[in-house]
Amino acid sequence: MMKRKLQNILVTGGAGFIGSNFIHYVFEKTPFEGRIINVDKLTYAGNLENLVRIDDEYGEKRYFFERVDIGDFDKIKMIFEKYDINTVVNFAAESHVDRSIFGPKAFVQTNIMGTFNLLEVARECWIKKEKDEILFHHISTDEVYGSIEEGRYFCEDTAYQPNSPYSASKASSDHLVRAYYKTYGLPATISNCSNNYGPYQFPEKLIPLMILNILEEKALPIYGDGRNVRDWLYVEDHCQAVWKILNKWNVGETYNIGGENEWENIELVNYICEKIAKVKGKDRDYYKKLITSVKDRPGHDRRYAINCDKIKQQLGWRQKFDFEKGLNMTIKWYMNHQSWVDRVRNGEYRKWIGNNYDLR
Ligand code: NAD
Ligand code: TYD
Repeated sequence: MMKRKLQNILVTGGAGFIGSNFIHYVFEKTPFEGRIINVDKLTYAGNLENLVRIDDEYGEKRYFFERVDIGDFDKIKMIFEKYDINTVVNFAAESHVDRSIFGPKAFVQTNIMGTFNLLEVARECWIKKEKDEILFHHISTDEVYGSIEEGRYFCEDTAYQPNSPYSASKASSDHLVRAYYKTYGLPATISNCSNNYGPYQFPEKLIPLMILNILEEKALPIYGDGRNVRDWLYVEDHCQAVWKILNKWNVGETYNIGGENEWENIELVNYICEKIAKVKGKDRDYYKKLITSVKDRPGHDRRYAINCDKIKQQLGWRQKFDFEKGLNMTIKWYMNHQSWVDRVRNGEYRKWIGNNYDLR
């Protein structure tokens, strides 16, 4: 393992859920002294409001935003040159499985072609750089491994068996990153993480959707029998893991990251109902009547479960937030950020695009 100095980090998808948490984490919780360049297309999932505090404090000094599509070769190349990029952390993606079922094209475009384009720019722009100065870190998901039966866990060498257009597109991008490392010697790492939850998550995903629907006493849609299992990790723990990979890098490696915290969807939603009932001073079961079984998702993976021993052993990473703590913090965050929620729901959050309205 080599010791490297992080300077100009290109974070793609930095206005999304995990990307914006990552930028907060790096500026607020690490000794990093360099610059972060956030490249985001600002799709429906990109929200610059998530980064107002960062922009106020570091904007145009150590934090820069560029509204650019990762698939645009010329503009990405211009950014690499302008900021002398030496590290890429590729969060940008279409990220919602349900959307991938209704419209897979954007997933192929951004997740596969966009990542391919970033790799091509890196290959071209980094040709004269020392190998120990540069790193392309690709953010992926445990969903690439497909569904796994009770008692077994995804390891880094588990065969890829993606089942949704989303996971198939993420799997393709992982393969491309690996191929660029093997074929062109591009210094690259990959991480495959389980389901994240926490502040700034777009309320289409299970946990924020359920929190907000409970608070508004709306129906809580559970797909199928609700017995599908997901492993949940607090987003800051994911950010910390990525930070460790960037710092203690080990080129060519892939790392699984997970919460070791498996829940059946129905059990999880019951638990969230109980938590919010407590905060609101209601009966323990008050909100559970809102739970409604709806049609199952086509190709719905039954269970994801991750073995993350490798990152624990090699990089000394540990989850810091147990689920109860992380979930309480998340519930509180959504309750205390009603105006963020309102703006996301009524579309007003798009106003943060402001002068960045045109894709440069
Ligand atoms: P998100 O949907 O909240 O954010 C994605 C961001 O990427 C948005 O800001 C969006 O505007 C931007 N983006 C989309 N297409 C783009 C393009 N063509 N060019 C530039 N920017 C573009 O997603 P997230 O939940 O924050 O996920 C981030 C990454 O982490 C993704 O790669 C996802 O596959 C991976 N991941 C997510 C989870 C999870 O639970 N959310 C778990 C494991 C891995
Ligand atoms: P989601 O948050 O979309 O993440 P992923 O599909 O990437 O794991 O969904 C998590 C689980 O919750 C998944 O099994 C689908 C289920 N789910 C529901 O039952 N109802 C919902 O409204 C949503 C959004 C998801």
